[in-house]
Amino acid sequence: MSTVLSIQNLTKHFGRIKAVNELNLEVQSGQVFGVLGPNGSGKTTTLGMLMGVTNPTSGSFYWFGEKPTPQIRRKIGAVLEHPIFYPYLSGQHNLELNAMIKQCPIENIERVLELVELTERKDDKYRTYSLGMKQRLAIASALLNDPTVLILDEPTNGLDPMGIAEIRSIIRKIASQGKTIILASHLLDEVQKVCSHFAILKKGSLVHIGPVGDVGQGEVIVEVNADIENLNEILLTFSGTASVLRENGSFQVLMRDGYHGTELNRFLFEKGITASHLVTRKKSLEQQFLEILSEH
Ligand SMILES: Nc1ncnc2c1ncn2[C@@H]1O[C@H](COP(=O)(O)OP(=O)(O)OP(=O)(O)O)[C@@H](O)[C@H]1O
Ligand SMILES: [Mg+2]
Repeated sequence: MSTVLSIQNLTKHFGRIKAVNELNLEVQSGQVFGVLGPNGSGKTTTLGMLMGVTNPTSGSFYWFGEKPTPQIRRKIGAVLEHPIFYPYLSGQHNLELNAMIKQCPIENIERVLELVELTERKDDKYRTYSLGMKQRLAIASALLNDPTVLILDEPTNGLDPMGIAEIRSIIRKIASQGKTIILASHLLDEVQKVCSHFAILKKGSLVHIGPVGDVGQGEVIVEVNADIENLNEILLTFSGTASVLRENGSFQVLMRDGYHGTELNRFLFEKGITASHLVTRKKSLEQQFLEILSEH
């Protein structure tokens, strides 16, 4: 594995607003890296600096271990904002113009159209495209010069569930071809569904970074109920209980490390209590996300 991007203390202030604050992170080759954060947390500003359209206030970053130059940036394709296409030209024709501007072979067009599943509609005028098709054409355009890295800012914004599913499947397809993808999103489930690794930004600062699969590791919650009045107090006396929360008529018991539902069940049984309901589940990314955001 090799490092595609490394960021050191990257900072951007707009007057008094600290849009990005001392950001440090690394993206490795082949990762689908999610930058997750609520509105205004600095995702677009970060991507803008990485693409050289926004000047950092301080800090630095390296692409493939090198200082960013126009040469290096050719290895990076980006869909930052809604790109400008000519409404009265076809998708094919728009891509031909972009290929000329980017000085890349016209032959690439067929391949990228296929990849984003627009081949059948390539000769239709851009203005007749749905929002999802427009977004797919933008991704096709970013892939024209066969970049090593693809950057996407909120790729499914404004799309309906079908359009969202199509874009996500295209992102997975691009990732499976070995490209590194950096994707900003305020949607947790998007990051969970398409990313391998992610960072969480809050008010411009990094509050979490790691593999998506690690989230929820070791955080077991047991949902339990029994027909007994003081169940809450009894659950609190169990040595494996970290905390108890009453929710939707049952109790959510957060387990200490190493404890599981089986031990809790045995504990209740030994107290002469039969659980009418006992389900073990991993803490959802959503719960963790909300906790991470409230902790800082
Ligand atoms: N050109 C600018 N001038 C002044 N402030 C700006 C500028 N661009 C961004 N900001 C501010 O920087 C902060 C971060 O904005 P940014 O657009 O990077 O957030 P974001 O995470 O992309 O949000 P969203 O999810 O809404 O896209 C916000 O407070 C925003 O108002
Ligand atoms: Mg943004």
